[in-house]
Amino acid sequence: LRVFSGSANKALAQEVTHYLGMELGSITSKRFADGEIYIQIQESIRGCDVFLIQPSCPPVNDNLMELLIMIDACKRASARSITAVIPYYGYARADRKVKGRESIAAKLTANLITEAGADRVLAMDIHSGQCVGYFDIPVDHIFGESVILDYLASKRIQTGDLAVVSPDVGGVARARGFAKKLNDAPLAIVDKRRSGHNMSEVMNVIGDVRGKVAVLVDDMIDTAGTISQAAKVLRQEGAREVYACTTHPVFSPPAIERLSSGVFEEVIVTNTIPIAPENIFPELTILSVA
Ligand code: R5P
Repeated sequence: LRVFSGSANKALAQEVTHYLGMELGSITSKRFADGEIYIQIQESIRGCDVFLIQPSCPPVNDNLMELLIMIDACKRASARSITAVIPYYGYARADRKVKGRESIAAKLTANLITEAGADRVLAMDIHSGQCVGYFDIPVDHIFGESVILDYLASKRIQTGDLAVVSPDVGGVARARGFAKKLNDAPLAIVDKRRSGHNMSEVMNVIGDVRGKVAVLVDDMIDTAGTISQAAKVLRQEGAREVYACTTHPVFSPPAIERLSSGVFEEVIVTNTIPIAPENIFPELTILSVA
C-alpha cells in the first residue's frame, strides 16, 4: 500500500500517513512556465495498491488536473489499484441541468477521474449524493459529521437548549440526520430564495429558535453568503448563540469578513481544504478528518 499526496492538501495527507504509521510516497509535481503540470512518481509502485490524496478545492481546475495526471502516472507505472481520495469534490454543485444548455460538470468530472484510470474513489461529503451514481467504479462516500458531532458533544449543550438549523431547504436531510444524532434535537429551516450564483436571499425561519443555541449545518461554506444570512435571521428570531458547522471551508472572498463579523459564536469546519494562515479568525475551529 502506498499513499501519495498532490499539492492541494499535503498537511492532511501527512496526518493520514502518520495514523497509518507510514511515510508519504515520494512524488514530483511541477508547473511548467505555461502552467502545464508535470508529475513523476519517484519510486516503484508496480503491483501496489495506491491511494492518491487530492481535494479538488480552489484552484479547482489546477487541483483536479493534477489529480488526473497523478492517476495517469500511476496507471502507466503499473499500480495494481488506484484509489482517488478526494476529501473535497469540486464541481459537485453542478449536478443537474437547471436551465437549458447547461453542463453537468459533476458528471463530467466523474468521467474524467474514471477515464484517467482510477479504480475506486473515496470522497467526503460530496455536495450532492447523486454524484456517487455518476461513477461506474466503487465510491466510498464518507462524512465529516462524526468529528463535528464529537466536538459539539464535548461542549455539553443541553438538548433542550439546542436547535439544529438547515440554512436552506436543500440541506434539510443533512440537518435532520445531524439533529437525530444530537439526541433528537429540534430542527429549524431557513427558507432562502437565491437571486443568482453565489448570491442568496434569506426569507424566514421555519421552527422555533428563540432563546436557543442554534447550530447551522451545511456541507460547505463558499462565499459564506448562505450561512451568514441564515445566522443573521436566526439572531433576529431570538437565537441566543449561533454556531456554524460545516465540513468544507472553501472560503472564497468575502467569506472571512462575513464569518468574522461577530454573528457566530463559533465556526466549526474540518481540514478537507487547507486554510491560509491569514484566513484564520478567532471564532474558527478546525477539526481533523485525517
Ligand atoms: C448549497 O446548496 C450549499 O450547500 C451551500 O449552502 C452553498 O454552496 C454555500 O455557498 P455560499 O457560502 O457561497 O453561500
